[in-house]
Amino acid sequence: MNDTFLKACRGEPVAYTPIWIMRQAGRYLPEYHEVRKLGTFLDLCKTPERAAEVTIQPVDILGVDAAILFSDILVPLEPMGVDLEFVEGKGPVLSPPVRDKAAVDRLSVPDMEEALPYVYETIRILRRELADKVPLIGFAGAPFTLATYMIEGGSSRNFWNTKKMMYQAPALYHALLDKITACTSRYLAAQARAGAQALQIFDSWAGALAPCDFAAFALPYVQRIISELRQETDVPIIYFANNGATLLELAADSGADVLGLDWRINIDDAVRRVGDRVAFQGNMDPIALLLPENDLAARIGRILEQAKGAKGHIFNLGHGILPDTPPEQARLAVELVHRLSSR
Ligand code: CP3
Repeated sequence: MNDTFLKACRGEPVAYTPIWIMRQAGRYLPEYHEVRKLGTFLDLCKTPERAAEVTIQPVDILGVDAAILFSDILVPLEPMGVDLEFVEGKGPVLSPPVRDKAAVDRLSVPDMEEALPYVYETIRILRRELADKVPLIGFAGAPFTLATYMIEGGSSRNFWNTKKMMYQAPALYHALLDKITACTSRYLAAQARAGAQALQIFDSWAGALAPCDFAAFALPYVQRIISELRQETDVPIIYFANNGATLLELAADSGADVLGLDWRINIDDAVRRVGDRVAFQGNMDPIALLLPENDLAARIGRILEQAKGAKGHIFNLGHGILPDTPPEQARLAVELVHRLSSR
């Protein structure tokens, strides 16, 4: 049984640095396209046998030390009453956008155990098929990031409508976040009950916030989720606030065991700032996978070196792997991390 990833999350000694890759199941793999072409992306998420199959692909192909459930952070918004579609070349579309009191009132807080049976079924299949070869990570979006998609109706550049609601109608914003947080907390707890062995909270757009706004409008909801989860499960919790170097001290108060880092900060700086309260996950620039082998080895060696003082280190990219990345380069990176970190 390879539990190196779980040990590193808890800051326990490990024989080598474990690695997994954000978005490791996805479009850079020809094997993913084979399964994906059988239907839409959402069909794939909702078909447990196939979702499990693509979850396992990178474990077999790359040799990573953890699997991450194949799904999407936006999936749990559907049972709340928002229409979700992934439009080719455009990304996610959520309709209608949630921008006034009537829309917030209309959102339901369903029983998440019943609302997303296909997710839990995928997790149960995966635990069986992985047979402890590597641990399985479950995940959800952080409430602020999920709210941006609901309020904007999709991806956004400036988060105009989200910040407008925060500044002009804070009570409405908090009412919306309250509902999203209740759902997310129960959703993650249900994933752990189904068999997820670690949980990652993705706050992809946290870096768009001033520190004071992050503290007032985003962090408290992450703290609430984590403290609720702690009463139900002891699986390690990873919080990834993307583009969040300026928010690090605040993020360390989230209660997470591990903080994910993007590539805009050196891990030794992060360690100096928050010490050994948390382990770190990251943080190579995804496009650095294009470096020639010697340079890639040097880059990986530098990150491993910078992480030496950390309570624990899980190697990862600083954000998701990009669709044009050659899979051989990802495989090489996994091998280099294992080789260069062996102790
Ligand atoms: O990491 C993994 O391998 C697990 C699967 C996973 C997906 N999305 C699959 C996916 C995870 C963990 C996510 C998280 C997610 N989804 C985030 C947070 C992480 C991040 O990138 O910041 C966000 C913001 C989303 C929302 C989302 N999903 C967008 C904006 C898009 C469209 C853009 C794009 O890359 O296509 C998606 C679609 C999506 N999610 C795909 C995959 C494999 C591509 C779907 C396809 O096959 O066409």
